[in-house]
Amino acid sequence: MTGTSSPPSTIMVPETGPIPKHIAIIMDGNGRWAKKRLLPRVAGHKRGVDAVRACVRACVERDVKFLTLFAFSSENWRRPAEEVSLLMKLFLNVLESDVEKLHRQNIRLKIIGDISAFNEQLQLLISQAQDITAGNTGLTLTIAANYGGRWDILDAMRKTLIQHPELTTHPELLKEELVSKNLSMAYAPEPDLFIRTGGEQRISNFVLWQLAYTELYFTDKFWPDFGGLGLADAIASYQNRERRFGRTSEQVQNHETFPSFLTGSTKQC
Ligand code: IPE
Ligand code: IPE
Ligand code: MG
Repeated sequence: MTGTSSPPSTIMVPETGPIPKHIAIIMDGNGRWAKKRLLPRVAGHKRGVDAVRACVRACVERDVKFLTLFAFSSENWRRPAEEVSLLMKLFLNVLESDVEKLHRQNIRLKIIGDISAFNEQLQLLISQAQDITAGNTGLTLTIAANYGGRWDILDAMRKTLIQHPELTTHPELLKEELVSKNLSMAYAPEPDLFIRTGGEQRISNFVLWQLAYTELYFTDKFWPDFGGLGLADAIASYQNRERRFGRTSEQVQNHETFPSFLTGSTKQC
């Protein structure tokens, strides 16, 4: 079954293969794509939706299990009101037009982020879309909307404190696993591959906690131009990386893994 969370990569070395199980993407460059063509920014966002569809198709074809897309950050409210409202309308339209299609493709749709800031109609569509596709066992497509990595960590800490009131008097009992299982994407393994299009080399408050050991890939291509070919290039680059998780190259080649009692920062020699 998809959705069982795995231990953090800092506690146990995860199993990895040539195809990333989880790809997380900052879809950047829509505005510049449009500007280059003397079009309004929203034209770039619309083409960005086509690029999302192409990327989802490519992930399904390559048997990627989890795809996470950053659609709207907690800082994107700072944009001009007109652009924010157009982005909300676009999100709403896509939910209305695409959820049935996703369902037919056995795709499970998840939305992460503080959706309480959205209008009622959008909140309702989000919850219906998640309910309709909840039992699907193919690709898990997560859309991060009004999402911020710091918000996620704080929210997980708050939940952890409520579940374990003893932590206020015994903070030494606070463990990574207690926090990570309360993160909004606890149902997914940590991303194997992070992609950012649009030429910027920054994380912009995306999934901060789970990127600890993720392979990073940056491309100058604007998001509307990325498509299946861009994804193929990113996966090819991923396949040339050696994921060591703290071990030496020799250990990796000998396939040495470690039980959890040998990892962590408290070991003494
Ligand atoms: C990413 O493209 C989409 C969102 C943030 C919603 P941008 O709109 O950031 O495009 P640029 O960076 O201005 O080109
Ligand atoms: C990050 O892109 C957020 C999304 C793609 C949704 P931005 O374009 O908002 O990032 P900054 O502001 O350039 O860092
Ligand atoms: Mg941008």
